[in-house]
Parts: sequence; structure tokens; C-alpha cells
Amino acid sequence: MNQQKIVAVIVGLISIFIIGFVLFINRDEAAAPATIVPEVSNDTERESISDENLATYTAAEVADRNTANECWTIIDGNVYDITSYIPRHPGGDTILEACGLDGSNLFNQRRSEDGSVVGSGTPHSSGARSSLEAYRIGILSQ
Ligand code: HEM
Repeated sequence: MNQQKIVAVIVGLISIFIIGFVLFINRDEAAAPATIVPEVSNDTERESISDENLATYTAAEVADRNTANECWTIIDGNVYDITSYIPRHPGGDTILEACGLDGSNLFNQRRSEDGSVVGSGTPHSSGARSSLEAYRIGILSQ
């Protein structure tokens, strides 16, 4: 009888330990996405800023940022600072073609202004388009 009680206590303690361990692991997993949430909500905030509150830049100001160390581009009337994205671009250094210029055709069609094909010559994916939003710094002044 005593032996049974001891076994029951040991089983109980092991169960409590396992439950505690599982809860501990789950708490860690739940915490991980929480660190990403502020970034996502920042992006959403940034996207929700109306055009009137965004800085405006001239084509000349963009043209001054035409190197890999400082690369701005215009895509569909918006101005993007894509400098920090250059090393992460899946298409490699082809992205540099857009620095200081209107990169709309390059981004939308993967074609240069003269129509020559860059890479696949197909539009960037919707994933690429949503990545782009994070780099918007303003709009092109008319
Ligand atoms: C404007 C100049 C750019 C050029 C010339 C360019 C070119 C390319 C090329 C050649 C590829 C390889 C795949 C293929 O050929 O289809 C590629 C892939 C990719 N680029 Fe760009 N890119 C540019 C800008 C950007 C920007 C600004 C972003 C995002 C911020 C971006 C995101 C991506 C992504 C995510 C891929 C993987 C394939 C896809 O999702 O479409 N690119 N790009």
C-alpha cells in the first residue's frame, strides 16, 4: 500500500513537471510572434498615412541618390529608399539599375526604359510588392 502511494506521488510529480515544461515551451513559442507584431503594425501604420502627410521629393533629389551606398528610386509616383534592401534582393545587383531613376518599368515589368528584359522580364510577385511598401519614404513632387 505504502509502495503504491510512493508510486502515485512520483507519477504525480512527473506529470506536474511535464505539464510545467510543456507550458514553459508554449509560452516561449507564443512570445516569438509577439516580437514581430510591432513591426507589422508599424508597416500598417506607415501604409495608412495619407499621401498629404508624406514627404515630397523632386526627381533631382532622387537622382542624387544613385549609388549602392544611397539608392533611391521612383516607382509609380512614390519615392523609395531601397539602399538597405540591395544586399537582400533575390535578383542581385540588377536592382542597382533603378538607383536615382524612375524604376517603375524595372519593378513592374522587369524591363529597362528601352524595353530590354532584366532577369525574367515578368512583373515582380505580390510578395515583392508588399516588401516594397516598407521602403516608401515619400511621393514624387509634381
Ligand atoms: C527596380 C529595380 C529592380 C530590378 C531590376 C529587379 C530585378 C529582379 C530580378 C532580375 C529578379 C530575379 C527573378 C526574375 O528574374 O524574375 C528579382 C527578384 C525579386 N525581386 Fe527584384 N528587382 C528590382 C527591385 C526590387 C525591389 C524594390 C524589391 C522589393 C523591395 C524586389 C524584390 C524582389 C523579390 C522578392 C524577388 C523574388 C522574385 C519575386 O518575388 O518576384 N525587387 N528582381
